[in-house]
Amino acid sequence: MIHLYYDSKTGNVRRFVEKVIQVTGWSAQCIQEDMEVDTPGHLVTFTTNFGKVPPLTEEFMKNHNDKIFSVSSSGNRNWGRNFAIAADKISAIYDTSLAFKFELSGTMEDINQFIDIIKNQYYDSKRGSKKLDIA
Ligand SMILES: Cc1cc2nc3c(=O)[nH]c(=O)nc-3n(C[C@H](O)[C@H](O)[C@H](O)COP(=O)(O)O)c2cc1C
Repeated sequence: MIHLYYDSKTGNVRRFVEKVIQVTGWSAQCIQEDMEVDTPGHLVTFTTNFGKVPPLTEEFMKNHNDKIFSVSSSGNRNWGRNFAIAADKISAIYDTSLAFKFELSGTMEDINQFIDIIKNQYYDSKRGSKKLDIA
């Protein structure tokens, strides 16, 4: 079973994750301060304030990055070069694979693409790809 951790301030990431769950039956938890993390999983977050990582996400990754296979971010293309850049920043800091970027709560196409990436590329290893492992 694939597990998702997500951070959402205005509900877009939450809606994205809920749609993913509807399609896949995967499990998900909204990240909270000082939460216990036992299950390895994938992080879905958003980008805030001129390309920043949200504080709760930052704290979560500081404490639990060893359990996180990949990072994805919601954003808005109006922010140009800073579009969903929280995912790039987290990926660079923690050496976590960047899985996907999407706008707001994502289109159905985004959701299917995200599911496909998570299923096929990041299934069960921190540095990613089963495909690459056997290539
Ligand atoms: C104050 C503010 C700053 C934002 N800054 C960025 C940004 O730098 N880059 C980006 O791609 N999106 C930015 N956004 C857009 C959010 O990332 C986007 O709305 C996202 O879907 C929010 O997720 P949430 O609804 O789950 O909180 C910003 C939104 C707000 C309100």
